[in-house]
Amino acid sequence: MGLRPAQATETGNLAIFNGWWIVFTSGILTMVPLWLGPDGSQADELGYALRVSARLAFIALLLAYVARPWHKLTGRGRWLMVNRRYLGLTAALVHTVHFAYIVALFALTEAVLEAVTAIFGGFAYLCIWVMALTSNRAAQQRLGRWWSRLHRFGMHYLWLVFMQAFIGIALTAGDPTYVALTAAGVLAFMLRVVVALRHRLRRTA
Ligand code: HEM
Repeated sequence: MGLRPAQATETGNLAIFNGWWIVFTSGILTMVPLWLGPDGSQADELGYALRVSARLAFIALLLAYVARPWHKLTGRGRWLMVNRRYLGLTAALVHTVHFAYIVALFALTEAVLEAVTAIFGGFAYLCIWVMALTSNRAAQQRLGRWWSRLHRFGMHYLWLVFMQAFIGIALTAGDPTYVALTAAGVLAFMLRVVVALRHRLRRTA
């Protein structure tokens, strides 16, 4: 069930680029903070670029995360549904730029990498890159049921890493941006839960 990225040709002019335009535009946008960011020390500039890239990755991930449940629940959101694979690849690309900023931060400044961040963040990157490499129909067919398991687990793990970062700041500093990011994440999760429960109830009814 559902729409395939290949069906993007039915969605209008933007589909000429078959969804890759989303990936490339976001990749370029992720580099912009280095030019537009605040003037300051290298650590300040990279900190800013890290925050912008993390938020862009979060938006892309969340759009891919809600695409199917939103479409199932409302019958709307066809564009999201058709482009969800590209949104996932966008999240992976932007995360990779985040990774490049991390490498720069530790290479060029005195920043110290904590073990917990390295372990949980490192595992998140493993998930991101495996998901990106298997985001194609050939891998989907080869992996069968394991494909959905892998992608469902990876999405939720990434969601969790984002949430722990945002909730911590939302609770301690009460910053409205972090409250909004946390709320968006929680709403997206609730949408998935509602759609999953509805699906289960219908099957057992
Ligand atoms: C080893 C892996 C990682 C390291 C060392 C790392 C490091 C950093 C650093 C230094 C910052 C900037 C903090 C600041 O100045 O406020 C940052 C921001 C952030 N990173 Fe990463 N990161 C890693 C992986 C990830 C992953 C995998 C995710 C998400 C799945 C993620 C999500 C975030 C978020 C949400 C922010 C804060 C954005 C904001 O304040 O708006 N990071 N990261």
